Amino acid sequence: MSITLKTPEEIALMRIAGRLAGEVLDYIEPFVKPGVTTAALDKLCHDYMVDVQGCVPAPLNYAPPGYAPYPKSICASINHQVCHGVPNDRPLKKGDIVNLDITTIKDGWHGDTSRMFAVGGDAAISILARRLCAVTNECLWLGISQVRPGVRLGSIGAAIQRHADKAGFSVVREFCGHGIGLRFHEEPQVLHYGKADTGPVLEPGMIFTIEPMINAGKAAISELPDGWTIVTKDRSLSAQFEHTIAVTETGYEVLTLSSGSPPKPDFIS
Ligand code: MF3
Ligand code: CO
Ligand code: CO
Repeated sequence: MSITLKTPEEIALMRIAGRLAGEVLDYIEPFVKPGVTTAALDKLCHDYMVDVQGCVPAPLNYAPPGYAPYPKSICASINHQVCHGVPNDRPLKKGDIVNLDITTIKDGWHGDTSRMFAVGGDAAISILARRLCAVTNECLWLGISQVRPGVRLGSIGAAIQRHADKAGFSVVREFCGHGIGLRFHEEPQVLHYGKADTGPVLEPGMIFTIEPMINAGKAAISELPDGWTIVTKDRSLSAQFEHTIAVTETGYEVLTLSSGSPPKPDFIS
């Protein structure tokens, strides 16, 4: 397999799927409060996707080779959980940070986006947690801002890694961004570290996610016995933001923007 180029008509459909994924995050935001369980957030998002948006939640029963089918409709990763946190019946606590990752399928096309939420509000989380979330959103946007035809894929990861390193944080290596379209995970793999000016050359019509996972401590991770949830090995905090990006003739288009998306940091052109 190789990197598929999407036609303008296909990009129009992915624009819809992407916007809907972003709008699920906007919808769930007011429910992310101390005392709510991630299973309750999963149910709310599931019903919104299915009943209001007419979407299929892509994670539900998703089973890549070597994995048991994913049992829920969203991923909810709390504090030292890096990604793929399986929603459960433990209530969120004031001061937690949680990533909610939404992937919609609309008319066969996927949209994939995630953001961090501060449980109890920004003032309730630690200064470290606040800085980690801010730096991770900056990493995402520094990666996005590399995207235009002629640039090589490795420049995205290099920009992300440079910023994370400068902040004293580390980049998770085992999971990466990915091409996306009619399938959830397509080529290419979009590493969040690496060397500028290496790898495949970007072309208009490519669509992929950028989704850096940044740890406050060391980069190493482990998998919980549920076979899905990934945590930092040193139990340090981890944050992630994700958008689905199309390469355009002149640069990029973020397909998963919605009214509640965290803004692009001011220092990024
Ligand atoms: N949404 C995740 C990603 O960004 C993948 C989740 S797979 C699941 O690629 F099965 F855990 F949902
Ligand atoms: Co993704
Ligand atoms: Co995702």
